[in-house]
Amino acid sequence: MSPALQPRRIELGDVVLRPFVLSDEAAVADALRDPDILRWTGGTAVIRTPAELRARRWLEPRIDGWARGSAVFAIADAATDQVLGNVAVRDVNRVPDQAVVTYWVNPSARGRRLGARALNAAARWAFASDGLRLHRLSLDHSLVNEGSCRVATRAGFQLEGIMRDYFVEANGERHDSHLHARLATDPPPQLPGAAAGS
Ligand SMILES: CC(C)(COP(=O)(O)OP(=O)(O)OC[C@H]1O[C@@H](n2cnc3c(N)ncnc32)[C@H](O)[C@@H]1OP(=O)(O)O)[C@@H](O)C(=O)NCCC(=O)NCCS
Repeated sequence: MSPALQPRRIELGDVVLRPFVLSDEAAVADALRDPDILRWTGGTAVIRTPAELRARRWLEPRIDGWARGSAVFAIADAATDQVLGNVAVRDVNRVPDQAVVTYWVNPSARGRRLGARALNAAARWAFASDGLRLHRLSLDHSLVNEGSCRVATRAGFQLEGIMRDYFVEANGERHDSHLHARLATDPPPQLPGAAAGS
């Protein structure tokens, strides 16, 4: 298991990255009603949970994630604290100096490049000397998930190759996936909200 992480808040102007709390359950339930969020990020255990219990099933391990080496952030509106999305830096140092990132944005908040901005900010913190001091972050997405590919590329995660039959849906369908990664030494992407705040 990865070592515990200190929960963190990262200010990005109009949005903030902050740990999830139990009162986010309704917002998570709303997000999990989006078929793409459920399909690509829900995970088999959540997908197989009755719909009315899914949000709690998704939320609880993510709130606890920090204690198990996964930095799971809500992307929240800075003014209202409403959850707009999620970005996570998972399995920190399970492979030394590395972690895996995931993200989703609620349909009502799409079209603002929030995914790329949040991913970039989380990556900067993960690489920073006053952050996680990691060297490599990777992510994968099904080849049919073109929006995720755009987010990854915009956030500076270069395409490294195709992993055949890598992603397996809850119904057993297999997908070839892109592997993207960003290194601490890569040039940072040009995006607003890039500062690694406290
Ligand atoms: C992927 C996701 C996070 C993008 O949300 P977002 O950050 O609000 O993205 P935006 O709507 O601002 O679009 C970002 C870019 O992707 C492009 N894009 C978005 N949806 C797209 C689609 N279905 N097909 C092709 N391109 C798409 C946009 O044109 C935009 O491109 P640009 O940056 O070159 O202008 C969101 O669609 C989502 O949560 N999807 C479901 C969960 C998911 O797939 N997560 C990733 C798992 S690997």
